[in-house]
Amino acid sequence: MTRILAIETSCDETAAAVVTDELEVCSSVVSSQIDLHASFGGVVPEIAGRAHVELLEPVVAEALELAGGSIRSPGVDAVAVTCGPGLIGSLLVGLSGAKAMALAWDLPLVGVNHLEGHLFAALLERPELASPNVTLLVSGGHTMLICVEGPGRYRLLGGTIDDAAGEAYDKVARYLGLGYPGGPAIDQLAATGDPRALSLPRSMREGLDLSFSGLKTAVIRAVEKRPDIEVADVAASFQAAVVDVLIAKAMRAVAMVDARALVLGGGVAANSALRAAAVEAARVAGIDCALPSMAMCTDNAAMIGAAGLFRLRHGLTDPLSLAADPSAQLEMALG
Ligand code: KG4
Ligand code: ZN
Repeated sequence: MTRILAIETSCDETAAAVVTDELEVCSSVVSSQIDLHASFGGVVPEIAGRAHVELLEPVVAEALELAGGSIRSPGVDAVAVTCGPGLIGSLLVGLSGAKAMALAWDLPLVGVNHLEGHLFAALLERPELASPNVTLLVSGGHTMLICVEGPGRYRLLGGTIDDAAGEAYDKVARYLGLGYPGGPAIDQLAATGDPRALSLPRSMREGLDLSFSGLKTAVIRAVEKRPDIEVADVAASFQAAVVDVLIAKAMRAVAMVDARALVLGGGVAANSALRAAAVEAARVAGIDCALPSMAMCTDNAAMIGAAGLFRLRHGLTDPLSLAADPSAQLEMALG
């Protein structure tokens, strides 16, 4: 059995995991820095980089120990690490650490694209997932509709032309004074609000691209006109508009590629309204729906391990000169 140590430090989560080639997660440790960034209203790259430096070694040690190994005797066959996209200072910490470990332990190094990691998150929990599937990848930095024809074979169908879905959540939450990160706060508040309180636009432009910056502006204008409106009603109305657009586009993509499953991924996939709408839309379309657990939606290293094992199996290892690429694109055909 092959076991891989995976490291993820692309943004504000320091994470390490040990995963087997049977997709068993032996350990998955995630140390969130949310508390460090919350008072600044968003991720501060310098603070994130410094926190990764402090947290990487203890997080890796814990992941190895939970999987029965240690820093001295890791008990793994390779080291996988996120090499992009993400914050350069954050990526470099994980990448340098992974290189040092691969060198010291004389193990192959496997660089993993963070977005590909998110695509593998669903497979970790649903290895039998049917393909082709349409994966709606919605996070703080990305909003993508991807046709997954099989592991390693992807087709980008559409993406946001401006703000990512999570970014829209965070910006609207900041405007409403709900703090950072905004997604969970709006999600919770929306449950008690009226989604029809504000009539907000659904940007259903042709094709599969999405846009959220107009919605954010519409929320601000609507609140300016009705300053007494309940914050919960604003949250519910905004969330309903986001979910309507995401699901409509996702189902358009499902029809286009004749997908057998709808899959959610990324931090916004933790959203309760989006999850409920995805299940319902998939049921109506008569296809499978895969909703990763909350821990698999947000950034973690187990998903990087799963993607790393796939690359390792296809001989796709990297030299110790591997560079971090903050704006790395998803490679569309591997293996
Ligand atoms: O995937 P992720 O952990 O990090 C990135 O790679 O960006 O996603 C973080 C994003 C943030 O914008 C956060 O507000 C959003 O996911 N998010 C949510 C929820 N939980 C996290 N958005 C809506 N509803 C949620 N429950
Ligand atoms: Zn992510």
